[in-house]
Amino acid sequence: MPAVSSGIMPDSNFLNLKAIALEEIRQEVFELFINGEQQPMSSRIELVKGFYGQSDEDGRLERTRHGQLEYRTTMAYIHRYAGKGAKVLEIGAGTGRYSIALAREGMDVTAVELVESNLAVLRENGRGLDCLRAFQGDATDLRFLADDLFDVTLVLGPMYHLYEPEEVHKAIREAIRVTKPGGTLLFAFLSVFGIMYANYFTGKWALGQAENFTAAYKVRHFKEQMFTGYDVTEFEGLFDREPVDWITTAGTDGALEAIEDRPDFCIPDEDFDAFANWYLHFAEKRELLGSTNHLLYICRKR
Ligand SMILES: C[S@@+](CC[C@H](N)C(=O)[O-])C[C@H]1O[C@@H](n2cnc3c(N)ncnc32)[C@H](O)[C@@H]1O
Repeated sequence: MPAVSSGIMPDSNFLNLKAIALEEIRQEVFELFINGEQQPMSSRIELVKGFYGQSDEDGRLERTRHGQLEYRTTMAYIHRYAGKGAKVLEIGAGTGRYSIALAREGMDVTAVELVESNLAVLRENGRGLDCLRAFQGDATDLRFLADDLFDVTLVLGPMYHLYEPEEVHKAIREAIRVTKPGGTLLFAFLSVFGIMYANYFTGKWALGQAENFTAAYKVRHFKEQMFTGYDVTEFEGLFDREPVDWITTAGTDGALEAIEDRPDFCIPDEDFDAFANWYLHFAEKRELLGSTNHLLYICRKR
């Protein structure tokens, strides 16, 4: 997250200079919002487009150890459910780090992405891959895709940027609708506690607490957060009435993000390799889940 207060950005390295400027603006908007001085004007989509239009999303999973761990762990879970020839949908595909890798492995991949600038990078990087197609679209409305199409559906990002309960449920239902009965869905969520540990390490505790919790310690979700975090049992509960069976909930990057904000943090390649294998072994441990930053909710459609 950024050297920022909120749930906003999970790492200071994640931001390029332009995005830092954007983050300062966002923080200002948030402070005015919290103080009741100004009604926020931008829509959820405008805020998301504004953020990704200025950040270097394509390098996010490579630049830092926690990004590398998130990628390795998420890929390990995807490979449990998807192999060569599988029909895979990625909703919120970003610049296509997962979609392109899976298409190169011989999967038949459909990518949906909200932000034009991310989609343009995805199309450029995926050029020449016949089994990859990409569309602009919003996770809450996938009417251009028929029912029961995909073996595996990935929602790795949109749930960080949806705040209204109605929109959250729409996105979940759309992903389920387009998945085949018996198919698998992987939804990524952010942990509000992972966000708060990052705030603690970056010295932004008070602002982070005001942004992520009410005075009664209830988790908050509102669009000026830009990135919203959940209690683990809270996001698991979102699926209670849906036609899916829970398979597991797993962390994908542990507590690394907060720790990596220390300027003296470093880990050699061989230790990181051993750590990543160890982490994967314990990624589903309930007692560790909240402290992780990114999590996967994995379920099967009935
Ligand atoms: C953190 S990035 C993750 C990208 C990629 N899935 C990954 O895991 O590396 C989140 C992505 O979701 C996209 N996104 C956010 N809200 C969305 C929505 N409602 N519908 C589709 N995409 C959305 C963003 O534009 C961004 O590219």
